[in-house]
Amino acid sequence: MKKITKAVFPVAGMGSRFLPATKASPKEMMPIVDKPLIQYAVEEAVEAGITDMVFVTGRNKRAIPDHFDKAYELEAELAMRGKTELLRLVQEVIPKNINCIYIRQHMALGLGHAVLCAKPVIQDEPFAVILADDLIDGQPSIVKQMVGVFEKQQCSVLGVMDVPRAQTRQYGIVSSTNLEPDVEKVTGIVEKPQPEEAPSTLAVVGRYILTPRIFHHLEQVQPGTGGEIQLTDGIASLMSEERLLAYRFKGIRYDCGDKLGYLKAIVAFGLKHPEFREDFASYLKSLN
Ligand code: UTP
Repeated sequence: MKKITKAVFPVAGMGSRFLPATKASPKEMMPIVDKPLIQYAVEEAVEAGITDMVFVTGRNKRAIPDHFDKAYELEAELAMRGKTELLRLVQEVIPKNINCIYIRQHMALGLGHAVLCAKPVIQDEPFAVILADDLIDGQPSIVKQMVGVFEKQQCSVLGVMDVPRAQTRQYGIVSSTNLEPDVEKVTGIVEKPQPEEAPSTLAVVGRYILTPRIFHHLEQVQPGTGGEIQLTDGIASLMSEERLLAYRFKGIRYDCGDKLGYLKAIVAFGLKHPEFREDFASYLKSLN
């Protein structure tokens, strides 16, 4: 049985919806309270037993390798001032047994192209794809839940959730038949359909387990609008030769690529934060 040991984090997008915040620093470094989005994503992978983190980066993304690297000066300074708790926080950003690998996507040619950039590292293994701007709060982590489905079914698995029909034009939407509780057999997938044309309201959000055969299909995909290679098109093509499942994950998803979704995530994580959750809750109540 194949094991999932690698995760791909496409972090080379423009982040145009968050300009000017993303002019010089990556969207994935935006904090939810005190941790950047990318750290939540990596922690999710670590919890699923993944050891190789493959970041597909672009321009203005140097903060991401820096975040996961050792910070000698900062650590020395904190040690000198006796700030042991803060020192521990900085040193534990990533566990010691984890490898971080960085690949450059020279032009933002779409999510499918970003995933294809990881081919030389992934080679012939199944792998996870995690979009850090989809922050999903779940216990166990969503990737761990999906690895469980993969281990049982040995095929590609898409993380899906129901969305209001009016929003189908923001997502890849699947048509499917039920296989077992929370697991669907995918019969079709379309990118961003209009509500009246959507085959269902089951939307793919930023979690995927893919077999390496996806690379062959992504290599065949023709660029769509804006010259972008869509991951959805590669997955639709993969379906012609392999079984594909969709898993209704158990968790709450925050679309942190969108300003309102980002604010909701900050409120939800603020209300759970051990340091100030009571004070924050009373502050929010006082606003009514
Ligand atoms: P989005 O569709 O959210 O695009 O990408 P974006 O550029 O990040 O943000 P907006 O729409 O301009 O505000 C979904 C994910 O795919 C990655 C992004 O970094 C994000 O994690 N991506 C997208 C790439 O890595 N490369 C690309 O060429 C496109």
